[in-house]
Amino acid sequence: MTDLLIKSADLVGRGRQDVLVRDGRVAEIGSIAKAGSATVVDADGLVLLPGLVDLHTHLREPGREDAETVHSGTRAAAKGGYTAVCAMANSYPVADTAGVVEQVAALGKAAGYADVQPVGAVSVGLEGRQLAEIGAMARSAAAVRMFSDDGHCVSDPILMRRALEYVKTFGGLIAQHAEEPRLTEGAQMNEGAVSAELGLPGWPAVAEEAIIARDVLLAEYTGARVHFCHVSTARSVDIIREAKARGANVTAEVCPHHLLLTDEAARTYDPVYKVNPPLRREADVAVLRGALAEGVIDAVATDHAPHAPQDKDCEWAAARPGMLGLETALSITVLALGGPAEADWDTIAERTSRTPARIAGLEAHGRDPKPGTEANFTLVDPAATWTVVPGELASLSRNTPYAGMELPVTVQATFLRGRATVLNGKIAEETTE
Ligand code: DOR
Ligand code: ZN
Repeated sequence: MTDLLIKSADLVGRGRQDVLVRDGRVAEIGSIAKAGSATVVDADGLVLLPGLVDLHTHLREPGREDAETVHSGTRAAAKGGYTAVCAMANSYPVADTAGVVEQVAALGKAAGYADVQPVGAVSVGLEGRQLAEIGAMARSAAAVRMFSDDGHCVSDPILMRRALEYVKTFGGLIAQHAEEPRLTEGAQMNEGAVSAELGLPGWPAVAEEAIIARDVLLAEYTGARVHFCHVSTARSVDIIREAKARGANVTAEVCPHHLLLTDEAARTYDPVYKVNPPLRREADVAVLRGALAEGVIDAVATDHAPHAPQDKDCEWAAARPGMLGLETALSITVLALGGPAEADWDTIAERTSRTPARIAGLEAHGRDPKPGTEANFTLVDPAATWTVVPGELASLSRNTPYAGMELPVTVQATFLRGRATVLNGKIAEETTE
């Protein structure tokens, strides 16, 4: 592999530096005049972040390759600045065996755009009745550490307890989709003033909060780790804040759409805004933003949920929940944390890369460059803007709620072990360089 010399990048907290990469690892940082035959990337004016890490990606393969594949989804990830993604288990078949998680990991390796860490199902078929082969998935070549029935809540408390006790034995964790199913039967959107006006059945905040409160207690009781997926309400933040203050072993993520959009969007009846958990109130958005800035919410996770046209271009009630996230997450995070002029890149790197890598146990990711570390980074232009054109996204699906919006910050390049997956803002193989 040819060496790579990144010139004049703004390294978070360390000012402008040149970074020399050799054999996929950082060789030197400083003022480096020339380096033999190294490919030179001019990063003047660009911020170098550790490659983004997504704790929550739906890649849809196996089973729904019409909506996304590991190949297309990881191309979307690379374009969004990601070098690693955690692939959720709700595929067809479900990733509840060593065979399926190994298949997903192998597809990720073959595609080569981002490291794909499969998430294993907690229960067989995501049915919430019987524990999946957690041990076999952990011992498999995919080395699964994070387990989740995402899309469904592990609502049975005894199943949750057993799963926690099991993963604790090897340092694993359960990522919980917190939704008490008895409280959300038939739900279509956030329960509140807007749902009452529109006459749509509501998904009350308490359905999320009740499960988070219970699982905080179970985490404390078992001493095992719980991670809360897509936290969406102000009260959930209060519960997590109190739990952390007591020393509970819990972490939490928030999705970009919950940091920007509200249930007012449902007035359009456009199913692109239908998502689970649903878009909440302005007051929730404000609290989530503050909690992310503060670190009560540990990470941004996309819940990238591609859907085929027939599952989204239909009436609201029939549409599947979920929206694309990978290619817009960094821009929305910057917006939510105060806009590009105010951007605190250290906090952004913490919430989008370092902390999610730590939560998922991805040791080669989420690292600021220093000699010896794997060269997994992204170069972003903090001053540029771009307009979201669904047809130009790398994802196979088109269900972005940001179509036509002008967003701050562009991803100029992404490097996975020193190899460009994105260069000049384009998937690397499409560039002429
Ligand atoms: O909106 C969502 N879509 N929420 C989930 O929990 C699952 C996801 C999906 O798989 O489409
Ligand atoms: Zn979920």
